Amino acid sequence: MSSVDFFQSLSLDEIQKKTREYVLGTYAYPMGIAMSFGQGEYLYDTEGKQYIDFLCGISVTNLGHGDADIVEAIRDQAERLMHTSNLFYNQEAALLAEALVNYSFPGKVFFTNSGTEASEAIFKFARSYGQQAKNEASVIITHENSFHGRSTAGMLMTGQEKIHTGFGALLPESDLIYLPRNDLDILEKTIDDRGQDICAFALELVQGEGGIHVMDKEYVQAARDLCKENDILFIVDEVQTGIGRTGKLFAYEHYEIIPDAMALAKALGNGFPIGALIIGDEFASYLGPGQHGSTFGGNHLATRVAFETVKALVTRDILANVVAQSEYFLRRLRLFEKQFACVTEVRGLGLHLGIELDRPAQQVVIEARDRGLLVNCTAESTIRVMPPLNISLERAAEGLDILEASIAAFQG
Ligand SMILES: Cc1ncc(COP(=O)(O)O)c(C=O)c1O
Repeated sequence: MSSVDFFQSLSLDEIQKKTREYVLGTYAYPMGIAMSFGQGEYLYDTEGKQYIDFLCGISVTNLGHGDADIVEAIRDQAERLMHTSNLFYNQEAALLAEALVNYSFPGKVFFTNSGTEASEAIFKFARSYGQQAKNEASVIITHENSFHGRSTAGMLMTGQEKIHTGFGALLPESDLIYLPRNDLDILEKTIDDRGQDICAFALELVQGEGGIHVMDKEYVQAARDLCKENDILFIVDEVQTGIGRTGKLFAYEHYEIIPDAMALAKALGNGFPIGALIIGDEFASYLGPGQHGSTFGGNHLATRVAFETVKALVTRDILANVVAQSEYFLRRLRLFEKQFACVTEVRGLGLHLGIELDRPAQQVVIEARDRGLLVNCTAESTIRVMPPLNISLERAAEGLDILEASIAAFQG
């Protein structure tokens, strides 16, 4: 066995070489660079080049990089206590759960380490509800074009009867129905036809990975009512929209509804891995003792950082900034619609924004990167724009100037 130098600082070439040699090839690394430092709205790569960050690690670092309160919370909690396990009560988890419930709806919180795990929790919660309360109903409705994570239902792989018990037959394809978004007629018909078999309707209020599509208010409100009338859980996946991204702490607030459950992750820890499923009090008993768990889930460090993140969101003037900056961004982006033939539509809510092109958009991402701006491309032809929620007007203007120049260069 050769020895490893634990204190190296690598060039981009060396990072790429080691990545190819040692890291499993699941990612394509389309940005092509590596970051070494971040401060506020800026990132710096390993070669020292500065970038304005309109990507936020895919809607994660909503408070920007190196936020003093977040850094201090991590330092303090790391010194004090990082992890004990869920064999113990945990002050930080209890305080975060209280804060999340106080700012959303009366309920109970299950902590996870990622958005996918929050989806897993949705799945198990929905199935358990169906088994216990709705004559073993096991069908879950989601949307075409939705995204809820990449796990393959971990419990399917676990060879223990007691872990499988309580959720019905595991995952026949007919147990998921994917509906077109915003089509109330089809939703009504589906519930008319199969309502007895359906335990839950899970949706993103703004489809993120699917290309920044905002759900209509009338559709969401009517869907919420339909679910209530038919004993179907109405569950929002706010992994990408939650924690201020849309200008409210949670996107469901725009729709003037209260969901039965809500999944969170991404920005909840501002970069520290943590997720959550909040289940309304009426249904909280459907994931009971021993039915779900996680070693890391809700550990002292993760929940302390998330508590600090939520505190920053509600005590600083950040949501007001999202609303103000959103107006500015949308005004500028809508000019792109007029200015560039390749821009077909601008969509979004708050600072969760997308620019639709009439062709694949990845080259705009590269043009922007080369000019010092980070955005990404989702659903092939959508440029996704997600700046930090506390972005200044000056940086917003500077970044949008770069984006404009990048689309101009792309269009040729
Ligand atoms: C709405 C939504 N749900 C779930 C996930 C999965 O989250 P994670 O990548 O943290 O597992 C994502 C990730 O993009 C998402 O956007």
